[in-house]
Amino acid sequence: MSHPPLPTTPTRILITAGPTHEPIDSVRFIGNRSSGRMGCALADEAARRGWSATLLLGPAPAFPTDSRVRVRRFRTCEDLRGLLREEFGKTDVLVMAAAVADYRPKVDPAMWNGKFRRHASNLTLELEPTPDLLAEVSSSRRTGQLLIGFALEPREELATSSLAKLERKGVDLVVGNPLETMDSPDIEATLFAKGGAQTPAPKMSKDAFAAWLMDRIVPKVHSPRSDAESAEGA
Ligand code: CTP
Repeated sequence: MSHPPLPTTPTRILITAGPTHEPIDSVRFIGNRSSGRMGCALADEAARRGWSATLLLGPAPAFPTDSRVRVRRFRTCEDLRGLLREEFGKTDVLVMAAAVADYRPKVDPAMWNGKFRRHASNLTLELEPTPDLLAEVSSSRRTGQLLIGFALEPREELATSSLAKLERKGVDLVVGNPLETMDSPDIEATLFAKGGAQTPAPKMSKDAFAAWLMDRIVPKVHSPRSDAESAEGA
């Protein structure tokens, strides 16, 4: 007797986007120019395709237009780390498009409720390294999870540096793009895969690139899960 196919649930994608703001005191921070546009475009494109999309969004001007995208906000690298701990185990695909700070001010947290005052002398701000969140989550990945990183590089170092990051962070794909991409409506990216394969994309809008990238993610995603399997992974 043949059984009807098990019902399937949508593929789950978790996307991070935007900059982090690392506090110096209660009114100042170290940030960067990431607009969050690329991650928002990807979340919209995934939702349009019927995927279950969660966007972890930093303090950026962009916001997804599709109301089906579930949005959770972060400010600092540490906030994002906490959200990834909650969300990573529940996803099939992670796209780490956020421009996470590499260093943060090493200041007494008491200053987060206060303010540095002006003095005549120089002020030196000590910075400490932040954890590499992508490397951290990739070390706890489940079989079948697909991990995609972004790399922002000077053009002449794009290939060598993107491939090095792919290995170092233990991910499946890296979207390498030149420094000018940050805060721009367009992107001119190359997709790097394990084994060294390189697929250049023509320069296009971030919305168009979201569809281009999703077309290349789809064949790499494991076959749709049955409801029983998704309950296990939840
Ligand atoms: N990333 C991360 N945690 C950090 C810094 C970066 O998870 N503390 C992620 C980014 O979201 C991106 C990838 O790592 O997906 C590459 O980020 P990038 O800034 O290009 O590389 P870094 O590892 O920070 O190295 P460098 O700044 O020296 O190029």
